[in-house]
Amino acid sequence: MISRAVLSDWVVDARRRTFELVSDLDDSQLLGPRLAIVNPLLWEIGHVAWFQEKWVLRHALGEPPIRRDADALWDSAAVAHDTRWDLPLPTRAGTLSYLTEVRDRVLDRLAHGGDDPRLLYFALHAAFHEDMHDEAFTYTRQTHGYPPPRLSGPRPVAAPGPLRGDAEVAGGTLLLGATPDEPFVFDNEKWAHPVAVGAFAMARAPVTQEEFAAFVDDGGYGRRDVWSEQGWTWREGAGAGQPVYWRRDGGAWERRDFDRWVRLEPHRPVLHVNWHEAQAYCRWARRRLPTEAEWEAAAALDPLAGRKRRFPWGDDTPPDGRPQLDAGVLGCADVSAHPEGDTPAGFRQMIGNVWEWTQDAFAPYPGFVPDAYKEYSEPWFFTHKVLRGGCWVTRGRLLRNTWRNFYPPDRRDVWAGFRTCALE
Ligand SMILES: [Fe+2]
Repeated sequence: MISRAVLSDWVVDARRRTFELVSDLDDSQLLGPRLAIVNPLLWEIGHVAWFQEKWVLRHALGEPPIRRDADALWDSAAVAHDTRWDLPLPTRAGTLSYLTEVRDRVLDRLAHGGDDPRLLYFALHAAFHEDMHDEAFTYTRQTHGYPPPRLSGPRPVAAPGPLRGDAEVAGGTLLLGATPDEPFVFDNEKWAHPVAVGAFAMARAPVTQEEFAAFVDDGGYGRRDVWSEQGWTWREGAGAGQPVYWRRDGGAWERRDFDRWVRLEPHRPVLHVNWHEAQAYCRWARRRLPTEAEWEAAAALDPLAGRKRRFPWGDDTPPDGRPQLDAGVLGCADVSAHPEGDTPAGFRQMIGNVWEWTQDAFAPYPGFVPDAYKEYSEPWFFTHKVLRGGCWVTRGRLLRNTWRNFYPPDRRDVWAGFRTCALE
């Protein structure tokens, strides 16, 4: 288990990041337009504190609620999404004071509560829940065209160029999923089970903006033959002719980066493309998406040692700032950055930089049982697709090779791209 000292640092750090992501926004920005893909930020920051209070203070420790109205305001399983703009939410000051109050009580219980495993488990779960919402706050700012967030200590983006070519995976039997020696796992990672993976070749790097522009410029969005039936229906409904944040300026493509337009960065991964767009690109390029098991095999399987690595580069957590994570840098790096994070076979950036769509629907592993927070995984099985690897803004403390993310196949607003495999 994570020590109480480290856990307390994470609780402080997660809340600091939450504050940083909203502190420069005015009251109307904190509500924002009513969209199905985002929450009003004023509501969502309250929800983060409510979740922490509900599971750590009330559920694990049996304490009475701080606010009598908290469940009616912030329980995401009970409060319908499109009503969240109409709730009698506390003011900004009232909401921030609730965030501070809950955090301080949790820190106090961690300092004085001994090593109660329920306290530690739920305090960690709530910190990770906050980390995931912090990622959502970041893409919400992109969705609305708000300025880039002002985060502590950003460094320049590394820009060393392209990274072309495939590397090969011999295949074999992969134990897909997490093992019980992990200090914390989500229900959807339980438990490791054998899956046969055939030999395959996969790109060393994610698909770049330059590569995706070649697909767009070749009329890819209008070529019915490269889209699945479901994908074509989505494309027509959305009127999509290029990635959602792209526009033409004369002959050159630009993309919107928060509140400003920039020229494409040719060697950075393509971002904000959905699963249908990724599939269409693959068909056009005569490639395919990796399966989830293939992705995990490439990241984790060490055929020489006959075991799995925790991370692409090995078993140890890397020093800060090596993979493109934690929004230590604002935005993606070029796909050849961070060679120190390579797998032994030469796959780069499998953790960090950009989430990667896989072929597979999000599905339970054999013997799945939901954890105490029942709404985390189970409601989303089979309708969502699996993404792996984390993006530039994902907190590194969350991630491992077995970590599964999941979004509906039509979501273009999240920090997602993809890498491709060779056809057999
Ligand atoms: Fe949540």
